[in-house]
Amino acid sequence: MKRLLFYPAMIGMLCLTLLSCGSNDAKKDAAATTKQGVTQTSWGQADGKDVNLYTLTNKNGVQVKVTNYGGIVTSWLVPDKNGKQSSIVIGFDSLQGYLQKPPYFGALIGRYGNRIGNARFTLDGKTYTLAANDGKNHLHGGNKGYDKVVWDAAFADSIPALTLNYLSKDGEEGYPGNLKISVTYSLTDDNELVIDYNAETDKATPVNLTNHCYFNLSGDVKNTILDHSLQIDADNYTPVDATLIPTGEIKAVKGTPFDFTQSTKIGARIDQVQGGYDHNFVLNSKDSTLHLVATLADSISGRKMEVYTVEPGLQFYSGNFLDGTFKLADGTPINKHTALCLETQHYPDSPNKPNFPSTILQPGQKYHTVTKYKVSVEK
Ligand code: BGC
Repeated sequence: MKRLLFYPAMIGMLCLTLLSCGSNDAKKDAAATTKQGVTQTSWGQADGKDVNLYTLTNKNGVQVKVTNYGGIVTSWLVPDKNGKQSSIVIGFDSLQGYLQKPPYFGALIGRYGNRIGNARFTLDGKTYTLAANDGKNHLHGGNKGYDKVVWDAAFADSIPALTLNYLSKDGEEGYPGNLKISVTYSLTDDNELVIDYNAETDKATPVNLTNHCYFNLSGDVKNTILDHSLQIDADNYTPVDATLIPTGEIKAVKGTPFDFTQSTKIGARIDQVQGGYDHNFVLNSKDSTLHLVATLADSISGRKMEVYTVEPGLQFYSGNFLDGTFKLADGTPINKHTALCLETQHYPDSPNKPNFPSTILQPGQKYHTVTKYKVSVEK
């Protein structure tokens, strides 16, 4: 995305980091520290807690910015085929932008990614009622999901990495059990953003964590993503009702506009899908090891992104509800289809669909899932 405020901010941060070597005052003013490829800058406060922006930089100069507010990836700077750097994710330059509640830009999502039908589920004979924050359904963890809380940040060891911790209390947003969550973002020298999620509970609870980055590989939201090519390793998808709740059916993509088994332009058949793509693809991977499940490519910039995950599903959302309400720092409106999400997760509404893979975490079990987004440039 075009981020006019980015370059002055970066130069400022560099100066502050350099100055901090020689001057105590600069050290105090900078509020910026660096550890193993991670720079920390103060970004304000939310819920009475400090919010920081962390910049992860690898040896190629690729940079990912993450804030501990909502675990949001605010920017991911990648060069295009001409060496020009721009961010491939939608994001804001200040905490203020996120406090206006944009639709989950770049955020960590939980306790349950995507929808739970009729905002309730029954577990071990007890019915739990959740916030109906999407019509009659529950979406992305409720009114104040993990995208709107302040996480505790800790520098991780080795490569540029940041660990975010959060304790989601028993009863929070209606879910049972204290859920202790730890998510680590790492940026490798192969230009991979690895997101490693861990959680433990003290009561049985549904858990379905994901990240909600909106990608536009052209780096400019003036271009839609309809010309991006997408390939998804899924022979099946889960059809939905009018409120986007899966019907429970697992349907073959063959012969439908959902067939992305071969790389296809997103815009080629989108008109045949009512409302645009907002569906869970049933990944072909047969075990829970890391698999390449999707490849997104933009021929204009030459950028390509591969998605690897251990998850059984991928929610492909083509930015259908983006309507220009939210704007980038330079005033550019974020319009329909100007970004897309590839959310690795379990299928929506699994707590109410016994035929879907289970999302219930039991006390004593360890929830662990990994997703990797790898970006490269084809010249
Ligand atoms: C959902 C969409 C929703 C979007 C933003 C996606 O994960 O599938 O229906 O509009 O998130 O909230």
